[in-house]
Amino acid sequence: MPQATIPLRLYVVVVLYDVVSAYIVDSDPVLRVSGVTMAYGENQVLRGIDLEVAAGQILGLVGANGAGKTTLISIVTGLLPCDRGSVAVAGIDALAHPKRAARYLGLAPQELGIYPTLTARENLYDFARLAGLDSRAARTRTLEVAELLGLTDQLGLRGDQLSGGQKRRLHTAMAILHRPQLLLLDEPTVGADVTSRAGILKIVRAMATEGTAVLYTTHYLTELEQLDAEIAVLDGGVIAVHGSCREVVQRWGRASVVLRFTGPAPELEGWTANGSRLTPTHPVTDPGAAAAAALVALGPQVTRLVGLDVARPSLESAYLAITGHVFSEEAGSDLAA
Ligand SMILES: Nc1ncnc2c1ncn2[C@@H]1O[C@H](COP(=O)(O)OP(=O)(O)OP(=O)(O)O)[C@@H](O)[C@H]1O
Ligand SMILES: [Mg+2]
Repeated sequence: MPQATIPLRLYVVVVLYDVVSAYIVDSDPVLRVSGVTMAYGENQVLRGIDLEVAAGQILGLVGANGAGKTTLISIVTGLLPCDRGSVAVAGIDALAHPKRAARYLGLAPQELGIYPTLTARENLYDFARLAGLDSRAARTRTLEVAELLGLTDQLGLRGDQLSGGQKRRLHTAMAILHRPQLLLLDEPTVGADVTSRAGILKIVRAMATEGTAVLYTTHYLTELEQLDAEIAVLDGGVIAVHGSCREVVQRWGRASVVLRFTGPAPELEGWTANGSRLTPTHPVTDPGAAAAAALVALGPQVTRLVGLDVARPSLESAYLAITGHVFSEEAGSDLAA
């Protein structure tokens, strides 16, 4: 009957549109955010955010507490409206069609979203079903992701019986259950122990290698160095700096050298004394060579040396230079921009 075929055709068109958007237009980034602005009342949090995450790419979104990282992620996932701008997830207009876009993304939000009275297994299984997996696939994936995140032995424990780090891992497990094209991880390693953290990073890397686009926020900048992530620094409501980890460290990173003495630091040309410490007056590119030269130049004063700290430029020093934050500690004062 003609009346019955129209909805069917429409359905087929919608499904085809999603498939084409998601799989064939693979030159497009999986996530494209353009000109997104957002204010909470008078508080203008986002002032025009543009960023893209391609398939297989890990983008580390960093910024101070309150910079707007979670706000941006909430907008991408349809949990929060924005004032202006557009968001495309797998080619789908995520602001107009948040439910359709949600099929392609996995989210581990900053606030834990685990049901405390359900077991870890039930949390995973129910979430998989909500994400559209049939019961058999949901059971299989529950076991797979539990294994991946080292939670197999905890599957029978209730949410409120898990430790903080185990909850974090369960959270990440829930985000990857349905093999999303876009993975949004908002501080996934907070409270995770060294092993759990390494496990989460390993999975993020593996997901990216398989083609998942990952947006990752963290305050542990060494994680982004380990992931060799693209870096986007959110500062003042805009993406202030964007580039590969190496580019950002090369452009903005500062090396650090600190010589510590018994008693007041001696005078040394090119070095600034601060109490018992000496630091280079100007930024140095090779901290090891600068330290070696200082040891020679110190002459007999070198016998008063009790400590020597050398640090190569890091993402952390680059971040501090970009955001204009100055180390308050004496030892790191030479890192300021
Ligand atoms: N529901 C809300 N109502 C009003 N203001 C809010 C609300 N949620 C967040 N804000 C404000 O928006 C700004 C950005 O907050 P957001 O949570 O996005 O920061 P963040 O970069 O994720 O910080 P953190 O690193 O601490 O997680 C902050 O000034 C915060 O106070
Ligand atoms: Mg946040």
